[in-house]
Amino acid sequence: MKKNKNILIVGASGGIGTELLYQSIENKNTNVYALVRKIGSLDKLQKKHQNLHPIYLDLEDKNYKKKLENSLINVKQIELCIFNAGYLHLNTFLNLNSKEIEKSFQINAFAPLYTAQVLLPKMLKKGGHIVQISTMGAIQGSVKFSGLTAYSGSKSVMCNLTELFAEEHKDTLVRMNCLCLGAVQTEMLKKAFPDFQAIVKPKEMAQFILHFAFESHKFINGKIIPVSLSTP
Ligand SMILES: NC(=O)c1ccc[n+]([C@@H]2O[C@H](COP(=O)([O-])OP(=O)(O)OC[C@H]3O[C@@H](n4cnc5c(N)ncnc54)[C@H](OP(=O)(O)O)[C@@H]3O)[C@@H](O)[C@H]2O)c1
Repeated sequence: MKKNKNILIVGASGGIGTELLYQSIENKNTNVYALVRKIGSLDKLQKKHQNLHPIYLDLEDKNYKKKLENSLINVKQIELCIFNAGYLHLNTFLNLNSKEIEKSFQINAFAPLYTAQVLLPKMLKKGGHIVQISTMGAIQGSVKFSGLTAYSGSKSVMCNLTELFAEEHKDTLVRMNCLCLGAVQTEMLKKAFPDFQAIVKPKEMAQFILHFAFESHKFINGKIIPVSLSTP
């Protein structure tokens, strides 16, 4: 019999996150640990899907790392993590205040790092894959947009973290890769670019991310990968 895989999705709500959640719980060979911040929001879904295990936690919580550790205390092995959560604050450089900058870095940079620290011991024995979801704006030389300093700046930490993590763990079976997404039609995109209509839908992007997360670790490690239709 095929062994069940344990997956953690951080940010399993909203545009791409909801799709990641729905598509992964349909796979009966997975146990899905879904981190969302709205307490009780997954209770109804959990009744229909016994392989769904909600974790109600805010990435801004001061004790985020400890609380995540406690939530996963009985889960000895995790094969896959998709860090999908993200926070976009739109403001011009000089007008950014410390609250907005700190929130951006807490959610987009510190939380992915602490999450990986919690997961690593659960992946070392049998292997695992951590997929960071970043943005095209975090890639050096990509087209930049005004007002996205706090967002793209904090998301770029995910890219560097991926390369450094992969170097440090290259002799283990743990892999980390970073997908830098282009435009996907979600609320976040509407907030940043109200008049822009993206070709890619959240459902399609979630399909791609899940396929990548399940398959690519056999061939790819420590890579920052643009997932975008734009040129260059
Ligand atoms: N859409 C695009 O065009 C695009 C482009 C490049 C990169 N991305 C990246 O793709 C990912 C998904 O984005 P999306 O477009 O689907 O946007 P979204 O709907 O705004 O989703 C953001 C996710 O992050 C979660 N989140 C934010 N702050 C949180 C907190 N303090 N604690 C826990 N969870 C928190 C949200 O939870 P709630 O539902 O509770 O708010 C939601 O699950 C993000 O990392 C984003 O940066 C998107």
